[in-house]
Amino acid sequence: MLTQSPAWQALAAHAEDFRATHLRELFAGDRARFDHFSLRHGKLLLDFSKQRISQQTLSLLHDLATSANLAGWIKCLRSGEAINHTEQRAVRHMDLRDGDAAPPEVKAVLRRMADFCDAVHSGQWRGFSGEYITDVVNLGIGGSDLGPRMVVQALSAHQLPDLNVHFVSNLDGADLAATLAGLNPRTTLFIVASKTFTTLETLTNARTARDWLLAAAGQTSGAVAKHFVAASTNLEATRNFGIDDANVFEFWDWVGGRFSLWSAIGLPIALAIGYRSFKELLAGAHDLDKHFVSAPFAENLPLTLALLTLWNTDFLKAASHGIFPYSQSLSLLPRYLQQLEMESNGKYYDRDGRHIDVATSPIIWGEAGTNGQHSFFQLLHQGGQPIPSDFIALGKSDYPLHGHHTALLANCLAQSAALAFGQSAEEARANGIPEHLLPYRTFPGNQPSTTLVLGELTPYTLGQLIALYEHKVFCLGVLWGLNSFDQWGVELGKVLASRLIPVVRGEADDHELDSSTAGLITHLRQFRMS
Ligand code: F6P
Repeated sequence: MLTQSPAWQALAAHAEDFRATHLRELFAGDRARFDHFSLRHGKLLLDFSKQRISQQTLSLLHDLATSANLAGWIKCLRSGEAINHTEQRAVRHMDLRDGDAAPPEVKAVLRRMADFCDAVHSGQWRGFSGEYITDVVNLGIGGSDLGPRMVVQALSAHQLPDLNVHFVSNLDGADLAATLAGLNPRTTLFIVASKTFTTLETLTNARTARDWLLAAAGQTSGAVAKHFVAASTNLEATRNFGIDDANVFEFWDWVGGRFSLWSAIGLPIALAIGYRSFKELLAGAHDLDKHFVSAPFAENLPLTLALLTLWNTDFLKAASHGIFPYSQSLSLLPRYLQQLEMESNGKYYDRDGRHIDVATSPIIWGEAGTNGQHSFFQLLHQGGQPIPSDFIALGKSDYPLHGHHTALLANCLAQSAALAFGQSAEEARANGIPEHLLPYRTFPGNQPSTTLVLGELTPYTLGQLIALYEHKVFCLGVLWGLNSFDQWGVELGKVLASRLIPVVRGEADDHELDSSTAGLITHLRQFRMS
């Protein structure tokens, strides 16, 4: 059992003594706490001085990483061992961004992506009527949507002119219909992005999009070939859908869906910001990879993030973790990290199939600052639950409007300080708060947070940021002894949904259904008839 190991027991004993310590005391006891609890990598700064830890905490956490053989696991990851043992797969997303050292098959697909981007951008690639492509719609879900969608939004300041990139993921027709409403089938290109090419949502949207195209193209031959390309590992299924092999950008089963934006799944990114900028994104991630595999534990940024999350989750008993980018451009980062962290580490069984006797992934959630301050921050300040968070700030704004960025940064710093230090009754009194309002105007503080500062938001620094969280997730999986790279938990719902589709349609009955599901279906069938 994880909790029986000497390293875990030592942390548990330490946590017992340390839990009541307030961040105010920790800062009062060490005037250089920022220097002692912050790390830099290039222009990336990680300030974790507002975490509820001491040097002893850190050193015990490093002991835990040693006893989990983290260094050995990093070697297994790097050498392409099948560490995704339940699917017998290697985990090689780092190979996708390995530059000149990338495997030949990776380089070949990258070259094809470069040529394709060039053809679309130059106008050499045209629609069935001979018109230029003005809009690209990525049809995908989960890892085939969240990463590219987040990156395209994050790098909107780097977007090339004359090509708009859209994303449709939801099975709800409202998603596709609203997107198509503003588009012209003659000038729209679809990317069907699906690792397996069996995903209900994506294939349903792709079929509807194909009908929409064909309704405009009529009998024009080759219309689908001119308007549909795919990113997938399943060439047989893309062929069956009618996509020309020449228009399929391949990737491989050793690329996990939520780690796939560096592969052909990144095609909408390359189209939006240009292939050269896409390569910069890969280069930034590669730089962080080199740091991750070589930096000692005490200087290792991804490991530090992982250890802090483990400490907060299992020893300070925090059930959730907030992500607050003080950047509108990064507003999709929390959604992206939800899949990356929770689909990877939301598991209670270890690599030997035994129950893990502590909580694993916290619930990841968040919102861009300052928006969150005007909705849920009340609960962080006075809700009484420990909620750790990451604040992410940009040194330089990607949209520099006079006066905005300094105020944004001041708010970011003010929130993490207010959360850490709070306001005592004496301070409230000294600030003129009347006695009867004191309970409402005191703030307990002691909410832990990390602040990450990127010099500026570029393809390169975004690549670093994403790889940082990817490796954090890997480290946490090793520390908890679980496989971060499968996702069996999503299967049950998929099986049930396919059983229910004919029942909801009224084409079949299922007498085995529980009374709630059966009752709801009876109710819903009435709507469908009316
Ligand atoms: O249902 C979960 C999942 O398998 C994710 O892991 C994956 O990113 C997503 O579905 C989409 O899968 P695909 O790329 O095969 O369509």
